[in-house]
Order: sequence, then structure tokens, then C-alpha cells
Amino acid sequence: MQTESKERKIANKYHNRYLTEDMEEHEATKIAPMSLLQPFSNDLIQQIISKYKEVELSLRNTIGTPLYSDSGFILYCGNSCELLSRLESSNFSTNLTVTSPPYNIGKEYETPKALNEYVNWCSSWMTHIYHITKAHGSFWLNVGYLEVNDKGLCVPIPYLIWDKSPFYLLQEIVWKYGAGVTTKYRLSPRNEKWLFYIKNQSRYTFNLDEIRDPNVKYPNQKKNGKYRCNPFGKNPSDVWEFSKVTTGANRSSKERTDHPAQFPLQVVERIVRVSSNKLEIVLDPFAGSCSAGIAAVGLGRIFLGFEIIPEYCELAIKRYERFKRERDYAQKQLKLF
Ligand SMILES: C[S@@+](CC[C@H](N)C(=O)[O-])C[C@H]1O[C@@H](n2cnc3c(N)ncnc32)[C@H](O)[C@@H]1O
Repeated sequence: MQTESKERKIANKYHNRYLTEDMEEHEATKIAPMSLLQPFSNDLIQQIISKYKEVELSLRNTIGTPLYSDSGFILYCGNSCELLSRLESSNFSTNLTVTSPPYNIGKEYETPKALNEYVNWCSSWMTHIYHITKAHGSFWLNVGYLEVNDKGLCVPIPYLIWDKSPFYLLQEIVWKYGAGVTTKYRLSPRNEKWLFYIKNQSRYTFNLDEIRDPNVKYPNQKKNGKYRCNPFGKNPSDVWEFSKVTTGANRSSKERTDHPAQFPLQVVERIVRVSSNKLEIVLDPFAGSCSAGIAAVGLGRIFLGFEIIPEYCELAIKRYERFKRERDYAQKQLKLF
């Protein structure tokens, strides 16, 4: 009698790539990857504190007292459109903005607008961001799909808003993930896009060596006696594969909070590394659970977040404090060895 796995194609090593490669069924992510828990030198800690105090004071004078503020992590509970417009008339500027706005699809944190209203709303806050971005800074925007009445069901949001701000679009990155909703009458969606915008076409921060991919197929290949590949690895390309933050028994990510649309830390970490330097400012005007904030602080940047829903602000603060405890613990462990 044949065993069940021999009969079922999906449970058969001949047909199933995951089984052939002996892949783990589920690998839970940590509260934060080790790369965000690394210690800083005393000198860098002092510089972060003094930069944070300077930024915080200038924000207090322009947009008032933050809901929460701690060495390098500043969170306001409020409407980002109003806060951004007030910042625009100050001398505050950001090096990097990384964000994902509501997609106008009726999620629990948004009230859907008419399509043209949504596009105008996006154009307005993106333009504010442009005006408060430093000359060599950048703007990374993550968006998915929405329905356009009688025109399309899964219309990519970039088609509607890509040129609705003064930013220069450098490129689009495809973020591919493994799990998601399963559909019956169309293909199951497994990607979203990141639009990578810059302000100055000829000069912008781009730390490629910080994000090189060491998974090189032929690392020892040589040309004229020299290794062909960069010793840090290859350019990670414009297709990125990172799992989404998952929920559910035996498959829930450890970094999961109660926020319904959380970025995986690894994605924001890559963006913060490539498009900013230590001590620079990272802004997320739709901060949610503050994934961008954890990545920014873990990499020695100063984070500024805006979030309109008080409950999300509270969960983001708890998450940040948990991250700090985890970082202290990881650093104590490192000292033991
Ligand atoms: C797609 S989620 C962002 C999730 C975030 N990237 C994370 O990792 O948790 C969008 C967030 O924007 C917030 N939001 C919606 N409208 C806003 C507004 N006008 N000002 C500030 N936040 C807003 C929502 O409450 C929601 O938390």
C-alpha cells in the first residue's frame, strides 16, 4: 500500500521543491534580527544622544510635545498631513522617509475615499515629504493594489500615484513573499511594490555595500586571475524576497504585534541601511507598529514617527520597549563570551 505522501504530489519530494531542499516548514522570526541588536561604541552613543536632543527640541518648538520620546525614538500621535504641513514651514529636514500609507481598501484603520480624492490626498502628503527631505535624501514608498470601479480589480497603486509628487522616481522594487490570501478565480497575490524616489538625480545616499547579498552562485569564478564578484556579495537586485509578518498557530512570527499591516523588520532594515547613514533622521508618517523605528534605532539613526490611532501608538511604544530590553539582553550575552 502506498503511503499518503507518495500519492499526494504536494507531499512528494519529486514534485515539491521545499521537501527536496529539506526546508524547515516554518521558521519563526525573532523579536528583532541580531543585526539590529548590535552594540554601539560609547562615542556613537554620545553622538546619538546629542543629535536626538537637538532634533527633539526643534520638533517640540514646531509641532509640540511628542507622545513618547526616548534616546533616538520620537513618536507623535496625530494626523500626518497636518504634522507634515507644520514641519514644512520649519527648518526641520529628514534624510530618509520610509512608509506605507493606507491603500484605500477599507482596512480597520482607514475610511475609503473616492479614487480621485485618494490620489489627491497621497499627492498632498508626498509633496510635503518632498519639501522636508534633505537635498541628497530619499523616499521609499510601499504600496499594494486597489479596486477601480468598472476598470480593474487589483490595480497597482503605483499606476495611479507614481508621478504625483515632485520626487524623481529612481526605480520600482518588487517585494515577493511566500504566503498570503489564496484566490480561486485569479492568481493569488504574492507581491507588493516599493517605489524608490530621490530628490537629486545625480547625488543621493546609496550604500550598496551595506546590503550586498552573499549568496553568490559562483563565488570563486575569476577573470584575468581576479575574482569576478565583489567580496561583500552581489547587488541584491530589484526583486526582494522577504516573508510577510505572519499570524496563526505554529506559524506566527515572533515580531508580530496586534497591528494588521506590519512591515517585516528585514525589509525596512535593508532600506534604512542603503539610504541613510548613522545619526541621520528616518521618518515614517504612517508609522503603525513602528517597524521603521525599530530598524532605525537598531542601526543608530534617529526615528520620527506619526500615527493617528492611539491604540497603535501604545502598541508601538510597548514594542519599542521590548526591543530595548531584548537588545540589552543580547549585548550582555555578547559580553559573556
Ligand atoms: C499600512 S499601515 C503602516 C504599518 C507600518 N508600516 C508597520 O510596520 O506597522 C498604515 C498606518 O497609517 C495610519 N494612518 C492612517 N491615516 C493616517 C494619518 N492621516 N496620519 C497618521 N497615521 C495615519 C494607520 O492607522 C496605520 O497604522
